[in-house]
Amino acid sequence: MKNLTFGNINVLPILDIEKNVDPEKLINALIDGKINTVEITLRNDEAFNNINLIRKKFPDLILGVGTIVNVDQLKRTIDLGADFGISPGFEIEIIKYAKEKNFLYIPGVSTASEIISCLKFDCKFLKLFPAEPLGGISYLNSLSGPFPDVLFCPTGGINSDNYLSWLSQKNVLCVGGSWIAPKNDYNYDKIKKRALEVLNN
Ligand code: 3PG
Repeated sequence: MKNLTFGNINVLPILDIEKNVDPEKLINALIDGKINTVEITLRNDEAFNNINLIRKKFPDLILGVGTIVNVDQLKRTIDLGADFGISPGFEIEIIKYAKEKNFLYIPGVSTASEIISCLKFDCKFLKLFPAEPLGGISYLNSLSGPFPDVLFCPTGGINSDNYLSWLSQKNVLCVGGSWIAPKNDYNYDKIKKRALEVLNN
């Protein structure tokens, strides 16, 4: 298991790889754009096949699997050699299994109660989802008072216009978003360009 690092970028591209997108070309475009960490979501039938292929072809990539909503999916994620797992919400059995396997897992939260549940498991790095619809940065700031030690990866509604404001918050470790490589986009040059724009900002 590699350590979760985002280099100088702190942006986690969220990938929903549909059939019209070549997984290898997509990852190469991101790597050419200096991105070393990605989240591949479990949102279509090909997801686990793509994760398997990408894991084998790109051993140095920090590969996360997202949209994990049950323990079986987490088991497959670990078996395929992913580096971390991430969920849109909090589910106690998933978090327990991740702890048991000592696997890096990032639960999703949208309320103070869910954060309290995660803290019971000593999980202090959480996905805040869906960040913009929940109330945006003012909502995030409201959480920093009661939970000063919790760091977030806000996701949902984050894009090239607002990600820098999110990243400037003290309780934000990284932001997640689909804007760098949106679903069904196979213009690999543009994907690389958007990744490099993030690097240069
Ligand atoms: C997620 O899976 O976290 C979100 O669907 C990503 O949200 P976005 O498409 O608004 O970036």
